[in-house]
Amino acid sequence: MVAQVIDGKAFAAKVRAQVADQVAKLKEENGITPGLAVVLVGEDPASQVYVRSKGKMTVEVGMNSYEHKLDAETSEAELLALIDKLNTDPAVHGILVQLPLPKHLNEDLVINSIDPAKDVDGFHISNVGLLGTGQKSMVPCTPLGCLMMLRDHHGSLSGMDAVVIGRSNIVGKPMAQLLLGDSCTVTIAHSRTKDLPDVVRRADIVVAAVGRPEMVPGDWIKEGATVIDVGINRIERDGKTKLVGDVDYASAAERAGAITPVPGGVGPMTIACLLANTLTACCRANKLPEPEGLTA
Ligand code: GUN
Repeated sequence: MVAQVIDGKAFAAKVRAQVADQVAKLKEENGITPGLAVVLVGEDPASQVYVRSKGKMTVEVGMNSYEHKLDAETSEAELLALIDKLNTDPAVHGILVQLPLPKHLNEDLVINSIDPAKDVDGFHISNVGLLGTGQKSMVPCTPLGCLMMLRDHHGSLSGMDAVVIGRSNIVGKPMAQLLLGDSCTVTIAHSRTKDLPDVVRRADIVVAAVGRPEMVPGDWIKEGATVIDVGINRIERDGKTKLVGDVDYASAAERAGAITPVPGGVGPMTIACLLANTLTACCRANKLPEPEGLTA
């Protein structure tokens, strides 16, 4: 079988266009412009690239973007004071504190100081609990993007066997909750799983989110399975740097029914879902109907 390639870049562009349409409607009919505040502490080069990209796409869909760049020595009290201000600012509907934070700042404390209704990352402990109990929450962007692609490809996921490789709070655990919410039978596999190849071979859906280049070979993939590769790993090959996923794409594409490439798969969906979450937060804050197809 030769896998269908799930084009995350095109799908993300479609999601952003949907968000832009809804934003235009909000402005015209309700006089409201959604606003996203992004807080960056320090000069981590990768974080600077992400934050710039988020700001650019926020403006492109017609939202207000508020960037707060703080120096690496910012104290916890200063950062918490800024979050407090953003929590009460009615023009700000979404708040994202870019991670990782410098070592002297307590990430859990900082994230849990964000108003859960504005927590567009879905990392606040309240949102984690709401998702875990099947209640309306803000859902982490990367797993939400994966779910959207799976729903688009399959329609219903009900009854499918899904394996999530990786148990991180940002991807693995929320991904498993979302798949369970769509009535999959879910296994969370990780570095201590006894027979990982056997576990993966039983899955109709494989979500790989471990951050280890090409660790899932094609012969672990059940014929016709759908493979969602969350990994973005920079490697050196033939003297060049290259981005690869957690799945060995070439061999997996020979067995899978559908597969996301790296780059151009899950990656672009993350920012698209951040914008979708900001729109959702804005609609909820104003007691307006939520956008269809952009939430879990
Ligand atoms: N750093 C890398 N990915 C993310 C993300 O999704 N959200 C935040 N806040 N920081 C990140």
